Amino acid sequence: MGVVLKSWPLEPEPALFRQRVELVLDRLVPWLAKLETQPMHHTAGGRKLARAIREDLPEQGVSFRRLMGQLFERLIPASLNTASPGYLAYIPGGGLTEAAIADLIADVTNRYTGLWMPAPGLVQLEINVLRWLCTMVGFGEGSGGILTTGGSMANLGALVSARHDRLGEEFTEGVIYTSAQAHHSMRKAAIVAGFPRRAFREIPVDEHFRLRPDLLRIAIAEDRAAGRRPLMVAAQAGSTAVGAVDPLDQLAEVCKEEGLWLHVDAAYGGFFCLTTRGRETFRGIDRADSVTLDPHKGLFLPYGTGALVVRDLKKLRAAHAVSASYLPAPQEDPDAWDFADLGPELSRDFRGLRVWLPLKLHGAKVFREALDEKLDLTRQLVDEIRSLPTIRIVSEPVLSLFSFRFEPPDRPEESWDAYNRKVMSGVNQRQRVLLTGVTIEDPKTQRPIFVIRACILSFRTHADRILMAVEDLKAALADVQPGGTDAL
Ligand SMILES: Cc1ncc(COP(=O)(O)O)c(C=O)c1O
Repeated sequence: MGVVLKSWPLEPEPALFRQRVELVLDRLVPWLAKLETQPMHHTAGGRKLARAIREDLPEQGVSFRRLMGQLFERLIPASLNTASPGYLAYIPGGGLTEAAIADLIADVTNRYTGLWMPAPGLVQLEINVLRWLCTMVGFGEGSGGILTTGGSMANLGALVSARHDRLGEEFTEGVIYTSAQAHHSMRKAAIVAGFPRRAFREIPVDEHFRLRPDLLRIAIAEDRAAGRRPLMVAAQAGSTAVGAVDPLDQLAEVCKEEGLWLHVDAAYGGFFCLTTRGRETFRGIDRADSVTLDPHKGLFLPYGTGALVVRDLKKLRAAHAVSASYLPAPQEDPDAWDFADLGPELSRDFRGLRVWLPLKLHGAKVFREALDEKLDLTRQLVDEIRSLPTIRIVSEPVLSLFSFRFEPPDRPEESWDAYNRKVMSGVNQRQRVLLTGVTIEDPKTQRPIFVIRACILSFRTHADRILMAVEDLKAALADVQPGGTDAL
């Protein structure tokens, strides 16, 4: 007797699968159409909401329609609107819809791309992407890389490679040089990679928040004299706090002379390499040993897409490859990469498709134009802000990020931080743009100051939103003046 097949809930009928995808689209398309007018933040009451939806593992299923209702009506709105054109906070992410389509294909077909052998054609697509990124930063023959979940993992991969290449197993005396502008993921990488805290040495910056090569040389000499082992310089190509770009060419020179690994953290700024202005700004990046890039920032992709590219792929492989008898034999062909040998992950999502599809569909030109637009918008915004009373531009934009603060001379200096927080919150309350601030060391006084920052990197941000930002800043400033609705 044959086995009687019955409908199995984990394998819905094709028509039901289609219906569900269509139902999601019925939600997403109007959501996108309203994105422009959705508020910038709606997280008040978030704790209560989170508590209300805690639950045990359900024994019985719930209808798809109901679950979508919960997501789209309750949970998605209760958040920072990171997909909005008004999101100028932190480092804006992306969310190209073509990347979501790529994810749907990758997840349904569920091909395994951690190794070359199980899906050579698909792995080659991801290799193509990595080769494009290598070429973009100026790396040549023998270079390569890996797509990661983000910049933090890429920074870790770079440090592990440097450690393996330069210090081997005795690395506790290794020293990693960076500035106070470094992203905290670099420090985290050092902890995860097993370095003691003393391994991290911050070199002072100049008035533009750039690591000073002259002081770096002195620090390296001091450390060598003390029996330590200078390992790596982690330079910034667009720092998160104020957008600083370190003098990459000069740092490359120091690293060459001293035999140090040069890592460039270009997680935020890297894709500006596609533009003429970005390439000029990053002169010397092609001399790095490794570069972190975040396609989920400057390539406008959804969160979860980072990249590490290295000048010499062999070094990345040597630091990460471990074989196992139950796996296919490693590829001998240098053009056939096993991603499992280039990073800590064995199983992974097919993230290459998410990068490949938008790049192939649009071509680099469209991305270059979008990034050039961000550079122009940033100059437009900073020039408008420059004309406001009592303003100080603390860091001029090198790329698409700058910081500023108001320093009203008729108020005590001690109140300026609170004043700026108030102005920023006044802007954010208007719900058309979202700004964040940061406390940094003032290059003039070496004292901590709070600055407001604006980062323009969303593919959805255009000139109209910049005008809104200026209007809201002016209105928020008026509110904090004596007699204003929010006077301090
Ligand atoms: C300069 C820089 N490096 C590293 C990171 C960490 O990247 P991710 O959040 O993708 O892990 C960021 C994140 O904003 C960054 O701006």
